[in-house]
Amino acid sequence: MESSAPQPPLAAAAIQIDSHLDGAEARSLAEDVLDGLTRPFKELPPKHFYDARGAQLFDQICELPEYYPTRCERAILSERADELAALTGAVELVELGSGTASKTRVLLDALSAAGTLERYVPVDVTESMVRECAETLTAEYPGLQVHGVIGDFERHLDHVPPAIGPRIVAFLGGTIGNFTPGSRRRFLREISRLLGPEDFLLMGTDLVKDPRVLEAAYDDSQGVTAEFNRNVLRVLNRELQADFDPEDFDHVALFNEQHEWIEMRLRAKRELIATVRGLDLCVHFRAGEELRTEISAKFTPERVDGDLSAAGLELVHWLTDPDGLFALTLSRRTSR
Ligand code: SAH
Ligand code: TRP
Repeated sequence: MESSAPQPPLAAAAIQIDSHLDGAEARSLAEDVLDGLTRPFKELPPKHFYDARGAQLFDQICELPEYYPTRCERAILSERADELAALTGAVELVELGSGTASKTRVLLDALSAAGTLERYVPVDVTESMVRECAETLTAEYPGLQVHGVIGDFERHLDHVPPAIGPRIVAFLGGTIGNFTPGSRRRFLREISRLLGPEDFLLMGTDLVKDPRVLEAAYDDSQGVTAEFNRNVLRVLNRELQADFDPEDFDHVALFNEQHEWIEMRLRAKRELIATVRGLDLCVHFRAGEELRTEISAKFTPERVDGDLSAAGLELVHWLTDPDGLFALTLSRRTSR
């Protein structure tokens, strides 16, 4: 009898996916909007950019000539992945904000070639990306287990499954720069709790450089970043029955020299009142008034080192591309 039971396809057996979002994301969006759009200086947290369309637009951003971080980070990984694999002996890779995991393949290739790779754990708020990347990666890497975690890495890190051996936790793309300095250190401390004595954090950070290069990376000539920025308004329209016309807003990206971060804003072209029906809220914008949608902090070696030590981590390797535009750091828990 049992032998005739249908066997699951191989790939399906290799995949486990947990979702921790059920309704919580909608609540968090509502709270963030209520909180952020009623302030004197309007602001929204960046995670709401990434619905399925936002994720696609971000993928296009990564291909833009002006957006150097993706190219640089991929170049560093290609150059050093074998060394990282040998040094860490990692059997699993946990990735926070994994997206399409396109650069991750370089690491998976190296771990696979080293013969240690067993499991990949992508963590992302965008459900479609976690599911798609689980499907494609299990097909591309025979024998690979994928345990996807659909959730908010700021709230759900305790749902990352326990390590099955030495692990690398990867946090790529300069996403750490999207935190404000205080919450950045707090978050790094949370991450360090995922690390055992034999584990490593591999983190990508964009470096301080000529403001013109930085601003172009966040305000490309084709307008893809502008569309990505405005996409957050489409998310509010759909999820909270708001009536924003994205075309009423200009995309603004500027380098704040004092804080050394890029700020992304949406600037109202005219005075307007938007209604957010789902929250029973009317939001007034003066002509020229801005809504801050994201910061992207740029780093110096000292800043990275300071943040890591404040979180109980110590630098093991500092890797940059030949032009010194982007850095990848390998760190581990400070031994005491
Ligand atoms: N790692 C990829 C993608 C970076 S974009 C790269 O380097 O190219 C940032 C990614 O983080 C997106 O996939 C987005 O969906 C995810 N993300 C943003 N905020 C998040 C949060 N609070 N919790 C989980 N994932 C988040
Ligand atoms: N983590 C990426 C960064 O800071 C995200 C990003 C790139 C982004 N371009 C953007 C976010 C434009 C909002 C708008 O570089």
